[in-house]
Amino acid sequence: MNKFEKLIKKKNKSKIICLTAYSKNIAAILDNHCDIVLVGDSLGSVLYNYNSTRQVSLNTMIEHSKSVKLGIKKSLMVVDMPFNTYRNSREALKNAKIIMLKTKCDAVKLEGGGKIIKIVKTLIKNKIPVMGHLGLLPQTAKNFKFKGKKTLERKRIINDAKALEAAGVFSIVLECIESTLSKKITESIKILTIGIGASSNCDGQVLVTDDLIGLNSLNVRFIKQYIDIKRIINSAVLNFKKEVKGIKFPQKKNSY
Ligand code: KIV
Repeated sequence: MNKFEKLIKKKNKSKIICLTAYSKNIAAILDNHCDIVLVGDSLGSVLYNYNSTRQVSLNTMIEHSKSVKLGIKKSLMVVDMPFNTYRNSREALKNAKIIMLKTKCDAVKLEGGGKIIKIVKTLIKNKIPVMGHLGLLPQTAKNFKFKGKKTLERKRIINDAKALEAAGVFSIVLECIESTLSKKITESIKILTIGIGASSNCDGQVLVTDDLIGLNSLNVRFIKQYIDIKRIINSAVLNFKKEVKGIKFPQKKNSY
């Protein structure tokens, strides 16, 4: 059984834990706890203040992923394919191969359903494992409203999930999806659903780590901040400043 099959076996048994990492030190902490570490293109807004993930380049994703890889020993590492790097099968295959080769990640993630099925099939045929992403699709979203209110939209998302499963993806991120729809999707497919703003009805959950630790101050319903790391860093920096000003640091033991 390969590591993707092992992970899928957790469906209905144990919730899947997925968090984002953009660099080695955070990845090493997450690696002890996560099934999946995602190098998300959310790094565009979180680290670079971009208005949208559309501005994230392939090279930026690769450089951050190379750093993340240094911190990963056991988790599955998934890298987001940035906007405009998978517009057709040829382009997607070329760029996915570059990502896999340069970052040594386990899989790539692509946003979309019906329109990208052919592309997903091409990657999988070429032994590149794929994670899907449905619901709110930040790379192409016109607004940031949750999905699944209207019947037609619900049907389309369920069909997309089934089509992605048939194409061979091992899991699908469900972003900002109404909770009964998440339940329906999760029950209709044998692969894993990983929710963000999609209720506990999914097989697992993903959050942006910077949001979870309070580095990124966002007031969004689906985010829960578990610690105020900014306060802890502030206090350490303040102590350092105090000791340097008071000539208490460095001491003899810190000097040569
Ligand atoms: O870019 C990202 O971090 C993501 C997750 C929020 C799912 O796609």
